[in-house]
Amino acid sequence: MPSYAPVKPSDFANMRLDILTLFPNMMSMFFEESILSRAQKKGIVEVVFHDLHDYSLSRYGSVDDYPYGGGAGMVMAVEPLANCIEELKAQRTYDEIIYTAPDGEMLSQPMANTLSLKQNLMILCGHYKGVDERLREHFITKEISIGDYVLTGGELAAAVIADTVIRLIPGVIGDEQSALGDSFQDGLLAPPEYTRPPEFRGWRVPDVLLSGNHAKIEQWRYEQALQRTKERRPDLIKAISEK
Ligand code: ADE
Repeated sequence: MPSYAPVKPSDFANMRLDILTLFPNMMSMFFEESILSRAQKKGIVEVVFHDLHDYSLSRYGSVDDYPYGGGAGMVMAVEPLANCIEELKAQRTYDEIIYTAPDGEMLSQPMANTLSLKQNLMILCGHYKGVDERLREHFITKEISIGDYVLTGGELAAAVIADTVIRLIPGVIGDEQSALGDSFQDGLLAPPEYTRPPEFRGWRVPDVLLSGNHAKIEQWRYEQALQRTKERRPDLIKAISEK
């Protein structure tokens, strides 16, 4: 099991995350609570929202237009979004410019681990029928889906991506080991957890957890994780054995 020296936030370069959205207020509420808020207050991560309406070329503040070739729905136009992205790119170098889309690469723990090591990330939240394909071709470096279902907009996907990435940055979660023990981190689901009291309505905490024998506890946790993964996600076991 890897061990880490205590981390001071100042030991780490901050991550900056720029989120381009039509709904900055909806997004910012999510970041004002809990771990994401603490990570920002500790100075480990800076999250900046950009309202795409501010880049509208129309009098009405719209950034979408009818699709060429007809059909229902609107498409986010290339020029206002390109202007926003280019303004940010002129200020710093981005490790990834991410677009949230149901046809993107599926978000996974290994992907989150990789992104958590980056310094500057940008996430463009899609909406309506999506964005003009030229944006994807010329600006976007990574396209991420959070699952095989369609959301009304990319904001929830961006929030999920930000949450899973930011909590992995050293110093964000108090106990460094706890992020390493997460489900998926070693390819297995996490084992069951218990806290006090040792007995409730006759339901007892497994004796091994009260034994104080750390080697036995680790072994029990591993076996439980393996059993749980076999039962619930046999596909993960297959993936490990094929590695
Ligand atoms: N936008 C709409 N649906 C999405 C999904 N499943 N993942 C990411 N972005 C999306």
